Amino acid sequence: MIKLSYGRMLQDALDGTHGFTRQRLAELAKRFGAVQAEVRQRREAGEYGFYDLVDQAETVRGIRGFAEGLGQAHDHVLVLGIGGSALGVKAVLNALRKPAWNELDDEARDFYPRLTVLENVDPGTVAAALRRIDPRRVLVNVISKSGGTAETMAQYLVVRAWLEEAMGPAAHRHLVFTTDPARGALRELAQREKIATLSVPPDVGGRYSVLSPVGLLPAALVGVDIEALLAGARAAVQRAESDDLLRNPAALYAALLWAADTTLGARIHVLMPYADHLKEFAEWYRQLWAESLGKRVDRRGEPVHTGPTPVGAVGATDQHSQVQLFMEGPFDKVLTFIRVEDLGEDVPIPGGGDLPPDLAYLPGHTLGELLRAECDATSAALARMGRMNMTLRLPAVTAESFGEALMFFQIATGYAGVWYGINPFDQPGVELGKKLTFAAMGRPGYEPEETAAPAGDEA
Ligand code: PA5
Repeated sequence: MIKLSYGRMLQDALDGTHGFTRQRLAELAKRFGAVQAEVRQRREAGEYGFYDLVDQAETVRGIRGFAEGLGQAHDHVLVLGIGGSALGVKAVLNALRKPAWNELDDEARDFYPRLTVLENVDPGTVAAALRRIDPRRVLVNVISKSGGTAETMAQYLVVRAWLEEAMGPAAHRHLVFTTDPARGALRELAQREKIATLSVPPDVGGRYSVLSPVGLLPAALVGVDIEALLAGARAAVQRAESDDLLRNPAALYAALLWAADTTLGARIHVLMPYADHLKEFAEWYRQLWAESLGKRVDRRGEPVHTGPTPVGAVGATDQHSQVQLFMEGPFDKVLTFIRVEDLGEDVPIPGGGDLPPDLAYLPGHTLGELLRAECDATSAALARMGRMNMTLRLPAVTAESFGEALMFFQIATGYAGVWYGINPFDQPGVELGKKLTFAAMGRPGYEPEETAAPAGDEA
């Protein structure tokens, strides 16, 4: 079970000036009843569909069957998707696969396929991936809930032509689409060309879809225990049933960060795992927190221009990059560390030879001990400087604990939406840029507009 240490959000554990008083915490706990009631009512109305992903036994059976059959017949899986259709996939795979997966030989990968995720339409990245992968041995999973996202569709057209060039009409057997059950261009193509598909539940938005077929199929294809992932998520949902804020860690996390932003000026929320394989998890969190909470209007349509700025970092690497700012810069941040008790593999630091006295403290310890000591030390040092911080403690990164962590952050985002009074499930702010892109690319129905920087204003 994951644990949230939040003591260093409180004045009495900081410098006596910054952070929350215990009275303020009690006030938040009192107000939580109304927040919980609103979440329950919105869940019943179908707005918080991601909670229900913990009960999808039939879908899981289908995905496992698919992965064991067709999936295992390919030695590379190529995922095409962007935003919520890619970040969760990357987070799961990097957390739960062995490090440097694609560089391992078949035996070291237990004969599961290699896996590449293409998100951006940077031609250099796409061309390099297609040069590296054998089209006759690949399974391409195109993921787009809307089935019409420009980047993913452009990649699909490039990849389909590449498959057809190698295999002619057999190309469609190398494709599987994950998309809306009824709507969108991808669904239309699948029906017309008899391409295998999986459905994204209509009430689950892109950035909340990691535990739907969006994340589950790629995970199952490389041997992740998707049932354990969902069991962990279920534990997070159960803990979120508590009406006591102090016993509901996801709700407490949301309440503290909302209050830190709106009443203490801590508008920057940093997630800093002390584990390299959780770097992509911090990137997934960044999208979830940013796209869900950054909003122009509140639920009543009143302008609010609200939303915290999420930042991803990795310990101990970023101690030598951003921690100076976190320690001494403005009091505008809350840091959340992720501390992993059992890192899976550990490396002893050897002694021997004639070491200078300054290095004598290292031998006899392990790299894992050093990493954990740095996490604890950074948290304590920040607290001494009056900097609010929390630590999320994972016993180990297993499918179960990782599923719990994914659901923890999604639930927290849903609660934060209520505290901020905004809709955490839409993203109207990205529409204008999309329309201007369509116009620039000549899509019918979109008037050409000036999108380049005004001439004459360049230095
Ligand atoms: O969270 C979201 O809804 C977005 O980030 C989408 O995931 C992203 O825009 C990709 O959309 P789609 O899955 O429809 O291609």
